[in-house]
Amino acid sequence: RLPKQVRIVEVGPRDGLQNEPQPISTADKLQLIDYLVDAGLTSIEAASFVSPKWVPQMGDATEVMQGVRAHAGVTYSALTPNIKGLQAALAVGVQEVAVFGAASESFTQKNINCSISESLERFAPVVSQAQAAGVKVRAYVSCVMGCPYEGEIAPAKVAEVSDLLYQMGCYEVSLGDTVGVGTPYKTQAMLEAVSARVPMDKLAAHFHDTYGQALVNLYAALNMGVAVIDASVAGLGGCPYAKGAAGNVATEDVVYLLQGLGIETGIDLAKLSTAGAFISQVIGRSSRSKVGLALAAS
Ligand code: HMG
Ligand code: MG
Repeated sequence: RLPKQVRIVEVGPRDGLQNEPQPISTADKLQLIDYLVDAGLTSIEAASFVSPKWVPQMGDATEVMQGVRAHAGVTYSALTPNIKGLQAALAVGVQEVAVFGAASESFTQKNINCSISESLERFAPVVSQAQAAGVKVRAYVSCVMGCPYEGEIAPAKVAEVSDLLYQMGCYEVSLGDTVGVGTPYKTQAMLEAVSARVPMDKLAAHFHDTYGQALVNLYAALNMGVAVIDASVAGLGGCPYAKGAAGNVATEDVVYLLQGLGIETGIDLAKLSTAGAFISQVIGRSSRSKVGLALAAS
């Protein structure tokens, strides 16, 4: 049941960097994105049009989106939580945007300052106006396997929110284990519930690795037919509204796993490790990718 091909959505420049306290220059972000493209990544989440008071690191979203180099087959996307964000994104000709909700009321409040139902009301015009401008919209659902404020989250709630976002017109729903608390059985139960409402080929797995379970959870998801994986080079990241959340699963580790399973990704692992080494050096921290570290040492 493993998919033959997997699309990797590289979220390092956004999810990976949004929580970094020290300033990272726009030039360094653009250099990272160039390295990622060179490694063969074709879906890159490059920026986030959110309030710079809430997430200062993403304050240069306009400059980043203006600076990315166009390549055939490469899509750069950005988060847009509301119409203000969408307008700023459309002004720089963004190709794809994403709205982001959650299956937890408390997390939604802390993250985007509204309830789940208010968030859906806000997203509806973002989706319709983006579509009217010919821009694809992806959706995120956070806290799919647990919430930093509420603990357990029912798979039925994840399915409900995912379905509403899919019905709204989002082409894909990315399921976020925001705090990385999931395990393989939880992953299965969650995906069973969600895929009963949204087709499996419209789902993506967005797993953080806080508890070291992301790869094994991805293996469970792959076995159920999930064929889109979000990952962050060097395992960068964390969410500012999920204290203690570690980075996304490292892209290098995901590519190594997929290669071992005989699944096509089109990504050059050596070049990807170069991207990881570059950004790790910029932020002055060693890579959180085991594969990246092993390749660097070999
Ligand atoms: P709010 O305060 O409720 O919004 O924030 P508001 O409409 O009342 O506006 C307040 C101020 O924000 C105003 O400025 C607006 O202009 C400004 P002021 O008058 O005070 O100077 N503002 C904006 N500025 C720039 N861009 C915008 C924008 N909107 C309003 N788009 C808002 C609501 C959503 C904007 C705010 O809560 C926010 O920015 N939150 C940040 C959320 C965030 O970025 N979280 C991290 C990403 S989600 C994530 O990481 C999870 C994910 O990876 C999946 C997973 O792992 O689970 C996706
Ligand atoms: Mg995330």
